[in-house]
Amino acid sequence: MTDMQYELKSARFLAEDVLRRVIRPGDAVIDATMGNGHDTLMLCEAVGPAGHVYAFDIQPQAVAAAKARLEENGMLDRASLFCTGHQEMDAYVPVQVRAVVFNLGWLPGGDHTVTTRWETTRQAVEKALSLLLPMGVLVICAYPGHAEGDRERAELGALLSGLSNRKYNVLHQHFLNASPGAPECFVIQKLN
Ligand SMILES: C[S@@+](CC[C@H](N)C(=O)[O-])C[C@H]1O[C@@H](n2cnc3c(N)ncnc32)[C@H](O)[C@@H]1O
Repeated sequence: MTDMQYELKSARFLAEDVLRRVIRPGDAVIDATMGNGHDTLMLCEAVGPAGHVYAFDIQPQAVAAAKARLEENGMLDRASLFCTGHQEMDAYVPVQVRAVVFNLGWLPGGDHTVTTRWETTRQAVEKALSLLLPMGVLVICAYPGHAEGDRERAELGALLSGLSNRKYNVLHQHFLNASPGAPECFVIQKLN
């Protein structure tokens, strides 16, 4: 995001914009879907040398790709990379965090049958909410347009709609004139 002019581009753009505004140097944050490590690297930059990123993926090839990306950029010491499902995050993250990011779906360039699934996504989202600091954010990019993605988007909408508005602000962004299946972003801010 180096453009001087603010341009609404995509769910990913909004996700990164929110994360960069909320995360402060020294923060602990979670990347719940490490993939090729693009978000992990962005989070490492945002937390700075005194911060820490806890990142999860179930695929060894994803962890290897993310590790290589962080190494190339001199950021590996700012992250703990776990080849573990994000539904186990509470066992690996010992502190409350400023932000959690999920980028649902499959690994770009990988096996499309290995995708996030609602049963485990739901557990992980609930754990992420309990790990958030007050005024911290949970940011989720969802990808409708395939069966599991449609299910995740619908179930997420239902789960998040039921959160108390005394405890959370919940935003659902989607471009009304987008092509079918375009990614959508959910932003949940914990108030207290
Ligand atoms: C869209 S990709 C993430 C892309 C990544 N954010 C990036 O910047 O490159 C989704 C990832 O979620 C991973 N995944 C699927 N189920 C998971 C689970 N239960 N826990 C953690 N990661 C999971 C997949 O292996 C895949 O790499």
